Amino acid sequence: MSNLKKILNEKINCKSVWFMRQAGRYLPEFREIRSKNTNFIELCLNSELSSEITLQPIKRFNLDSAIIFSDILMVPYALGQKVVFNKNHGPKLSSFDMESFMNNDEKEFTKKLKPIYKAIQITKKKLNREKSLIGFIGAPWTLLVYMLDLKKSKNKIDLATLESKKLDLPQIINQLIKYLCLHIQNQINAGADVIQIFDSWAGLIPDEYLNSYCFIPNAKITEFCKEKEIPNISFPRGIKEKYKSFNDFVKPDGINLDPLIEPQWAKKNLKNVVLQGGLDPSVMLKSEKEIIRGATKYIQAFNDIPYIFNLGHGLLPETDPDNVNKLINFYRNFDG
Ligand code: CP3
Repeated sequence: MSNLKKILNEKINCKSVWFMRQAGRYLPEFREIRSKNTNFIELCLNSELSSEITLQPIKRFNLDSAIIFSDILMVPYALGQKVVFNKNHGPKLSSFDMESFMNNDEKEFTKKLKPIYKAIQITKKKLNREKSLIGFIGAPWTLLVYMLDLKKSKNKIDLATLESKKLDLPQIINQLIKYLCLHIQNQINAGADVIQIFDSWAGLIPDEYLNSYCFIPNAKITEFCKEKEIPNISFPRGIKEKYKSFNDFVKPDGINLDPLIEPQWAKKNLKNVVLQGGLDPSVMLKSEKEIIRGATKYIQAFNDIPYIFNLGHGLLPETDPDNVNKLINFYRNFDG
């Protein structure tokens, strides 16, 4: 069994390191494939290339886990919204249509995403058995931010527009949960060992909606993972001290910390859960000394509890791969 699974399943204190966005633009070997494949959705649906990209950081750094190269927006895509990735503008989706959204069909959904499941199968065969293959989904709220185009500036959502749309949000969220669970099931069937649930924009939810848009949907999906006995990791990014009530309510196997969460606070307040990550990815753009200092804070704080080494968000495209290598070596050689 991989270290990642051992830590999540048996709460064993051993070393395991992987990074969000470990397969991405900071790697020259990724940029090379990407330059020849300008349509990002098509690239995600190319099973052979998706598998090759997934394995790039494993080959380079011998990381403990691979995360399948895909995107959280493949689900809205399969549910009928067009998705385009414009350089520097982030992803843009065609407008949301409630009727066609509610008319989706499970068989059709699975068929559209078959290439992702095939990529998982191919990767699983090539991956050393000591390593985990991580599948993932975006949580309903984070998907809605893109599906309904709710984010008007970097850290604000447009609540007025959301309310003026008069959409039946509970119905939309439940429909999303149904398809997200199907996507998880399909990834498990194809060979995923662990599921990470990204709620990257949870921090933008107004307090009065946190329960219905974040805690309850994440809890339902986590419950599904538990029924399927698949280790799961939550990432409710940006909700600050509400990480504690999230953890008590959702009860995931693992929880990824964001850079705003102090390691000592996490240790004291997040119980019965394996902690993962936390280090600010922008630290990776600094000197080796600062990277080591940043990492030490986390490694030392969590030295005596099960901890999965990772960052507080994805690796930035400007990151020097050499710095990633240095960080991994520092972590692996750390004993103290
Ligand atoms: O290595 C991995 O982490 C696996 C693959 C992966 C990607 N996206 C590839 C990708 C994963 C797990 C994601 C998750 C994802 N996608 C999230 C949740 C995590 C997070 O970063 O908060 C979100 C919000 C998205 C949506 C998304 N996809 C955005 C906002 C963008 C554009 C901006 C950006 O961050 O790059 C993408 C594109 C994307 N997804 C790229 C990659 C490698 C870059 C594509 C390119 O232009 O080459």
